Amino acid sequence: MDVESVRRDFPTVRKGMGVYLDSACQSLRPDQVIEAINDYYENYPACGGRSVHSMATRVSLAVDETREALASFFGTDDPDCYVFTKNCTEGLNTCAHGLGLSRGDVVVTTDAEHNSNHVPWLVLQESRGIGRRYSRSGPDGEFDIESFKECMGRDVKAVSVQHCNNVTGCTVPVRDVVEIAHDHGAIVMVDGAQSAPHMPVDLKKLDVDLYCMSIHKMLGPTGMGVMYGKREVLESMDPLLVGGGTVGLSTYDSYNPAPIPDRFEAGLHNYAGIVGTRAAIDYLSRVGMDEIEKWDSILMKRMMGNLEDVRNLHPVGPDDPSRRGSVFSFNIDGLNPHDIAMMVDNTSGVMIRSGMHCAHPFYVDRGLEGSARASTYLYNDFSDIDAFTDAVRHIAEVFGD
Ligand code: ALA
Repeated sequence: MDVESVRRDFPTVRKGMGVYLDSACQSLRPDQVIEAINDYYENYPACGGRSVHSMATRVSLAVDETREALASFFGTDDPDCYVFTKNCTEGLNTCAHGLGLSRGDVVVTTDAEHNSNHVPWLVLQESRGIGRRYSRSGPDGEFDIESFKECMGRDVKAVSVQHCNNVTGCTVPVRDVVEIAHDHGAIVMVDGAQSAPHMPVDLKKLDVDLYCMSIHKMLGPTGMGVMYGKREVLESMDPLLVGGGTVGLSTYDSYNPAPIPDRFEAGLHNYAGIVGTRAAIDYLSRVGMDEIEKWDSILMKRMMGNLEDVRNLHPVGPDDPSRRGSVFSFNIDGLNPHDIAMMVDNTSGVMIRSGMHCAHPFYVDRGLEGSARASTYLYNDFSDIDAFTDAVRHIAEVFGD
């Protein structure tokens, strides 16, 4: 991968506006994405799927092309299986509420889920009386397949797991999970927020039933997500929102749902976001997801290697960089994670995230108040990593216990 050429495409990198290591939260955007969004607003700012005038037709075509690009990017062949949402959270909520689970049905998750794949199930437990079980992670936060198997039974109707963890970086072996879940007759939905941006994901090979992602973590615009589902699964699900665009025909007393994906896309959509999504997918395809995954792993190795001998720094998650994907969470004795994040920004212009990263149960269970977290992407280079590790080393020496 030609990192120097990638870096030239990102305005904030080009302009030297600090070192951005918060891509697990939201990625930066290249010129190509910004230009596609501007082009929409400047040249065809109409709605899609409704009016038949020339501007609207251009939007409708652009929406179709984005779905086609997604289908090809994720190794599937049916563009209608890609539903636009506002983020991964909306996709996960739509799946959880749409599956029609009721009292006696059980959902299995893990003990390390993001709130977006945890709170919807708590709500359904309260409102519909569904049961919940979760597999326990190993000491470093890694997925434990034996614990997962113990959760499975004939009452399990859905398994809902993250693909990559946003704190530890650990990857769940989704293909194995799917095989076990399907043997038990359970549907599998996957929180792909941290995997889709960072590794090749072939949804056909993984055989998952539902998979959600946030496009704003994949070089695309804010307020964009995608929910993928197998055709028969989406066709069996109820939408979370209904209204304009979601019905075939309504009368004063009845309605019939529109075919997928329209039945899940109520109201006018984020068309600028959809064309920006296409540009982001094209960009990632051009660079290559294999290359991006390799580069993240090289950066993580350097980051953790640089910090290996800082005695009062403790990673949250595996010590082995090859098991961390693109996220490095850590604490320093005697320092609050928010103070660490503010100090690296103030002293060295390095932007990282701090807190519980929406994975509250995981931190509470381990008696941790949170952590600082640095996360990389294709536009980071060794100078970014070294700026971060120099700043952390200094802070740990001067202010840590
Ligand atoms: N879930 C996102 C993160 O981990 C927001 O930062």
